[in-house]
Amino acid sequence: MRVGVLTGGGDCPGLNAVIRAVVRKGAKEYGYEFVGFRDGWKGPLEGITMPLDVSAVRGILPRGGTILGSSRTNPIKVEGGVERIERNLADLGVDALVAIGGEDTLGVATKLAEHGLPVIGVPKTIDNDLNATDYTFGFDTAVTIATEAIDRLHTTAESHHRVLVIEVMGRHAGWIALHSGMAGGANVILIPEVPFDLDQVCGWVEQRFQQQYAPIICVAEGALPKDGDLITKDTTVDAFGHVKLSGIGDWLAGAIEQRTGKESRAAVLGHIQRGGTPTAFDRVLATRFGLNAIDAVKDGDSGKMVALRGTDIVRVPLSEATGELKTVPLARYEEAAAFFG
Ligand code: F6P
Repeated sequence: MRVGVLTGGGDCPGLNAVIRAVVRKGAKEYGYEFVGFRDGWKGPLEGITMPLDVSAVRGILPRGGTILGSSRTNPIKVEGGVERIERNLADLGVDALVAIGGEDTLGVATKLAEHGLPVIGVPKTIDNDLNATDYTFGFDTAVTIATEAIDRLHTTAESHHRVLVIEVMGRHAGWIALHSGMAGGANVILIPEVPFDLDQVCGWVEQRFQQQYAPIICVAEGALPKDGDLITKDTTVDAFGHVKLSGIGDWLAGAIEQRTGKESRAAVLGHIQRGGTPTAFDRVLATRFGLNAIDAVKDGDSGKMVALRGTDIVRVPLSEATGELKTVPLARYEEAAAFFG
């Protein structure tokens, strides 16, 4: 049995831990051989591979990024893309494919599985916005990095009596902002699911200064003002039609300064929250996903994605994971609002 492995979409801490678990268990317990596909769906589409065996995965557990490389290539948009992948897999003697990715990569996996290709999905994204799994690996690491940044911003904001806005990633879900803002004691958290009222935000800022503290505002890159549109500095879209987010942090700092007269600055965390070594939680989750994914290959359970439910790893149909985004429920946001202002 030959198993192909690929990682697609934005990279994420824990990808290497999945690859290692898939290969180690697959080789040791089932005697499988592996083919590494380079750069997401570009690999199977163009037949670009790299050797993948036990020696190739030694020492990669704590390493960030992905040894296979990644891209946002969308083979569905390429004429004859699905047939090309089918042909390349057959030519390489690949019997099953483990696709590790987020909404877009697994959306392609769903279509290929519907087409009859043997694909198993593993959910990854720092955004934690994939349905059908309680958590994705990478999220805990991103939240830990963002929380440390907020801790650091508190002391410099206090020293200068200024407003500090921290913009975090998450696309159209506010999970990273909610969790890091709560863990870091931010005074205001703004998420895409609940459009904000600028007057109310300024009210919370002034309230905070009256208590002799400097406000920290944690804003998700996809947050937007009431009656307003997404604020982004870049309008280009990727192969899956997603606009590149970021820009709300600077916009918000400017708007707050103008309205309150208080000096306001923005820190955009960007790819720092995606790079580097995964937390212990993410290493364990990624490893368990990898072990279960290779078991799914062994069982011939194509068209499924491994998922975390409570503390158990289960298998769900790929289509369940990619149909709809998992966003922050209002009740979770309302809990955090107890600390605003
Ligand atoms: O989906 C993960 C993510 O990091 C989002 O939070 C962010 O909007 C996006 O990817 C950025 O992608 P990139 O800069 O790699 O195109």
